[in-house]
Amino acid sequence: MLSDIGSRLIGAGGKRLRPALFLLSARLSGKDNYDDLVPLAAALEITHVASLIHDDVIDNSGLRRGKETANARFGNHVAVLAGDYLFASVFGLIGDKEYPREVGLKLADLVKLLTVGEIQQDSSLYKIPEDADEYYRQIERKTAEFMAVCCETGAMVEGVGPKMARQMHDFGYNLGMAFQITDDLLDITGTDASIGKPAGSDIRQGVITLPVIYALNNSSDREKLTAIVSNPEMSESELAEAITIVRESGGVDFSRKKVQEFIRQAKASIPEECDSELRKSFESLADYILRRNF
Ligand code: FPP
Ligand code: MG
Repeated sequence: MLSDIGSRLIGAGGKRLRPALFLLSARLSGKDNYDDLVPLAAALEITHVASLIHDDVIDNSGLRRGKETANARFGNHVAVLAGDYLFASVFGLIGDKEYPREVGLKLADLVKLLTVGEIQQDSSLYKIPEDADEYYRQIERKTAEFMAVCCETGAMVEGVGPKMARQMHDFGYNLGMAFQITDDLLDITGTDASIGKPAGSDIRQGVITLPVIYALNNSSDREKLTAIVSNPEMSESELAEAITIVRESGGVDFSRKKVQEFIRQAKASIPEECDSELRKSFESLADYILRRNF
């Protein structure tokens, strides 16, 4: 049952951005120790998958990557334990090779941050924020730091030096910010089928994202929107109305511009020592996030 749950979610696809970022960043060194790096690349993706299984329990979500979630299929108890089991396999993968000591410490800090982020998100559900600051802190903890750590540890395992490791951290951070804002935009602009999870679920679950914050501050219908998004008992027709208000407020365009800004900053963080072929890979990854619509 445990391997069925793990392979279902892993087999359902996903973009595997985290291991890709890690393996590409390691190439900055000019070395090609691919076989030694794969366990750590896998550990990063499995950490992500374990966190998604737990997240679906917390969110009581029924659909992930277009497939039924572990909690929907097997119940919350089994899903929590399956996440734990996968997370334990991460320790096995990291312990299997001699990675630098800081790598384990970075990963430990990252998972603590993810957990703190989930707790903080939970305590701010259905609350109207004053501005977008807390939103940016939230997506930093949820996504941007994870991508930053993938890039930074990729550079670190091959010993490229602290300056380049820091630049790669910033590349991953800005990419992660752009990625999460896009994810939050798709929740407003997408459909269940196009994003593989229920559209509108952020508003339904009380998570107030950037396009909504923009609309709360700028739309002529902001009172109506405030009443809907702060109400845990909102109906499906109110949810649809909230989405229409956000779409018509300019919040989508505003958020798209922010995505472009973060992508620009990501590209500016690529170390100048990076050879042209590798630079092209980093840049096309960044462009892919800019164009992403699933
Ligand atoms: C998805 O965000 C959730 C996360 C990125 C982090 C979840 C983290 C934990 C549950 C704590 C860490 C746990 C382990 C085992 C490592 P979202 O809800 O915004 O995205 P979604 O719409 O795809 O669900
Ligand atoms: Mg979720």
